[in-house]
This record gives sequence, structure tokens and C-alpha cells, in this order.
Amino acid sequence: MTADNVQLDKTGRLKHLLTTEGLDRRLILEILDHAASFASVGNRAVKKIPLLRGKTIINLFFEPSTRTLTTFELAAKRLSADVLNINVSTSATSKGESLQDTLQTLEAMHCDMFIVRHPNSGAAHFIARQVSPHVSVINAGDGRHAHPTQALLDMYTIRQHKADFACLSVAIVGDVMHSRVARSDIHALTALGVKDIRVIGPKTLIPADINRMGVSVFNNLQQGIEDVDVVIMLRLQRERMRSALLPSEHEYFHCYGLTENKLLAAKDDAIVMHPGPINRGVEIDSHVADGKRSVILQQVSHGIAVRMAVMSLIMGTLPESSAEQD
Ligand code: CP
Repeated sequence: MTADNVQLDKTGRLKHLLTTEGLDRRLILEILDHAASFASVGNRAVKKIPLLRGKTIINLFFEPSTRTLTTFELAAKRLSADVLNINVSTSATSKGESLQDTLQTLEAMHCDMFIVRHPNSGAAHFIARQVSPHVSVINAGDGRHAHPTQALLDMYTIRQHKADFACLSVAIVGDVMHSRVARSDIHALTALGVKDIRVIGPKTLIPADINRMGVSVFNNLQQGIEDVDVVIMLRLQRERMRSALLPSEHEYFHCYGLTENKLLAAKDDAIVMHPGPINRGVEIDSHVADGKRSVILQQVSHGIAVRMAVMSLIMGTLPESSAEQD
């Protein structure tokens, strides 16, 4: 599902952010550079800049979220936007209103941007095609398809720790089959020039055609993470599994759970990432999750700056020099 014809306008400017597929290196690095200029806003006494003053942003989440929802809200507030969070379980959607009617109703309140999370793959594209020309859409995760801002904050985090994407070996471990983060990370890593991308997991959780994305596949964790620079762990997405794909969580942890001992196979300075929520004792041991290699909480913090960058880039409100933010 490519989206560059939907998410970029005729001049190549970002109009919506729906997927990392088709985003080029230059645009990804531009977003990461802008995010770096926003990182210090969170350390100020007054954590606000006026770039989105007067803009109205609506968080429309049809699936649970902690990190994405709150960091989008904080990012929008730090940019001085007016933010509405629609609780779908208490909205008219729960009375049978269609997605299209919900959108038209919210658009009638003169909003400028929708941040959308939805259980169906393709929902963000559908919404981007429905909204008025002045409204932008950011995909906050659609089914197993894409989670572009998670991938961008992952790239930002890797860039903070590792010098050159072209020299990196990156392992993505676990339930790749149901993971929108894995797909979005692979597209972003590829655009940034990472040549060694490995996916690791049981055969039942690795898509049969995944090597078309230019990755290598391993079914053994220690072989797969040998000498890698970055390990990205994934949660078992039980809510998206239609049948029993695993013998037991205990067995899964034994084979694919990341422990300090298994991590010895990676490089000494390898970092451990996870988009969250983490399931301790299932895909990751607490000693690793809370250990010195873990950058999991840094990922959360970086999500604010990256989402500030994406929103202000899409709204066309960034100053000529992003250094003005510092
Ligand atoms: N990483 C992520 O999408 O987490 P949430 O489901 O808490 O938003």
C-alpha cells in the first residue's frame, strides 16, 4: 500500500503522514533535524512555542494507546495548538455513526488536522481521501499496516546513539507478522541506507514474503542478533492473532525472550529498543528492559519532539532555520 501520491502534494511537500513507505532519505532527515531543534522545549520553564497557535488538532483514536496519544497531545500543546481528544467509546460512533459521518461532524468544527489510530489497515488512507483539502491526517497506527511516527522516533533514537546508518546492523525480533512498527521501521531504515536488516522470530510470526522488503530472516534469536548494533523487540500482538500461533508464552520467552545472556551475542554497545507496551517475561526480561543498554524510555521522550516536527512540517509553520527554536 504505497501512499506517496496521497501524502505528498504536487511539490513534494508533506500533506499527510500515512506511512514511511516512499519517504525519501532527505525528508526523513529533515524531520529528524527539526525534531532535534524541538528537543530542548521540554526542558524550558514554559514548555511552549507558538508555531501552531490558532490551529485545531483532533486525536481520533479507535484503539487503546498510552504513548502515542499522550505524546501527540503533549506535542500539539507544546506547539500551542488547541487539542481535542475524542473518546470513541463515549462518542456517537458507539451509537452506530459511520466513520464518514463522524469525520464530517468533526470537520464542521473547523479542525486543521486529524491524528488517527484505527484497528483496520488502510483506515488512515481512507480518511485522508475523505477530508477537505485544507485538513491533514497523521496515521497514529492502522491495523498491522503502518505506524510512521513510531518509526521516525525510532530513527531519531538510533541516530542519537549510532553515527552512520549505512554501517549498522539492525535486528527486529518477535511478532513481525502483526506489527505495523516492524514494517514502518524497515521502510525507514532502508531509506536511511541500513543494509543489514534482520527479522527474527518463529516461522508462524514471520510473513512468508518478508524478504521482498530486503531483510534477512532468522528463526534463532542468538544467531540473528550476532554482532548487531540495534535490537528492536516487539510485543506479541495477541489482539491481531486469529488463531493460536504459539505453544505458550513460557515457551516463547525461552526461545525469543531477550535476556542479558542472549544479548551477549550482539555488539558490546548494542542498544535495545521496544515501541511499547512491553510485556516483561514474554518478549523481554526485566533486567534487559531496565538495563543500561535499554533506550525504551528515551524512545517515549523522543516521540514528543518528533511529533512536534511532523505536525509543524505538515502545517507549513516551521521557520526558515529550525535553530530558532533553541
Ligand atoms: N508504541 C505505541 O504505539 O504505543 P501505544 O499503543 O501505547 O500508543
